[in-house]
Amino acid sequence: MARPLTVAVLFSGRGSNLENLIRHFHGKRFDTKEVRILPVTNRPEAPGIALAARHGLKTRLLDHRNYESREAFDTALAALLEGERPDLVVLAGFMRILTPRFTDRIEAINLHPSLLPLFKGANAIEESFASGMKVGGVTVHRVTSELDGGEILAQRCVPIEPGETLETFTRKIQAAEHTLLPEVIADLLDLTETKESL
Ligand code: GRF
Repeated sequence: MARPLTVAVLFSGRGSNLENLIRHFHGKRFDTKEVRILPVTNRPEAPGIALAARHGLKTRLLDHRNYESREAFDTALAALLEGERPDLVVLAGFMRILTPRFTDRIEAINLHPSLLPLFKGANAIEESFASGMKVGGVTVHRVTSELDGGEILAQRCVPIEPGETLETFTRKIQAAEHTLLPEVIADLLDLTETKESL
């Protein structure tokens, strides 16, 4: 059996997307390929660490507060990832703006809870909900040093129905994320067998 495909998943908080990816991919075989998820966080208090542990996975922690500058942290994070030789790096709720120290060395994709290029930044769900638009959505895009600005790989619309609340809309956004991100990862890693089960 060849070395497993490694998907590094970077997160900063709750980790529902991390857990969803673990459920979809970790330890699973797709034809001759096996996938392993490598959780990575910048926050020791991130609830996602316990979620990963429940699935038997240890999270690599690089606390950004231990670094004197954004660039120093980004350099260390790039070095950590290079050492793990991941086949794919996925940002899923990783709440850091990344500088070229990282983006010039590491190719990654990011999940964002709006239809980019609308509503970039940390309050995308709230801004999308308050916009008066009849749809919001989710995007997976390549990571560059421009916040939420790289090439769009896939998007899914989420209707904003009459009477919708921020809570119900948020749940629909999360459900769309939990479907779209595994689909994009399966495509990028050519895990064709997974598609029926997604
Ligand atoms: C997701 O909505 C993601 O799009 C955004 O942060 C949230 C992370 O959620 N960037 P979780 O930590 O995966 O539950």
